[in-house]
Amino acid sequence: NKIVFPELFFTDKNLVGRDVLKISRNLSDLKGIFADAEAFERMPQNQLAYEVSSFLPEKEGTPGGLYFGITYLYPGKVGNEYMMTKGHYHANVDRAEFYWGLEGEGMLILMDGQRNVWAEHVFPGSLHYIPGGVAHRMANTGSSLFSFAACWPSDAGHNYAEIAENGFSARLMEVNGVPHLI
Ligand code: 6PG
Ligand code: NI
Repeated sequence: NKIVFPELFFTDKNLVGRDVLKISRNLSDLKGIFADAEAFERMPQNQLAYEVSSFLPEKEGTPGGLYFGITYLYPGKVGNEYMMTKGHYHANVDRAEFYWGLEGEGMLILMDGQRNVWAEHVFPGSLHYIPGGVAHRMANTGSSLFSFAACWPSDAGHNYAEIAENGFSARLMEVNGVPHLI
């Protein structure tokens, strides 16, 4: 009973019949992002971590257009760290984004250009504005599927390299059964 992708209703004939792009990431795609590398290596590398369904009505890089997507992030932990997305800045770093909690619960982990990190609790119906210049990553802190919708500019792009190299300056760990940013 996973939230289904919205039905697409368009009067613009150019958009009728367009496909929803589906990508999935396994644990092997998340290598290097978790603190406990040994716990990570012990887990099945083909385990599904998250899926993203996106509707991308404009060509990538089009100024003024919007994209819409739903991310389905499965529950789990690597050591004491919650399952999470790779995380990124936008390639066009000043591009903002909305996140909207749909099902399950998690935390939105944010980091500005000075590497200050903070987090917001995400739950069904919560709305989150990620300003330009802020890196973002989601963590599933619950025991069920965590799904959230996103809306971002079609000229935002993704800068994964910065996070792959330097990470976030804080991690969301389970301490005494509750999430702590440390
Ligand atoms: C975006 C959104 C969002 C994000 C997914 C997966 O800019 O496209 O932030 O759709 O890509 O939640 O997260 P990662 O892109 O960090 O793997
Ligand atoms: Ni983004």
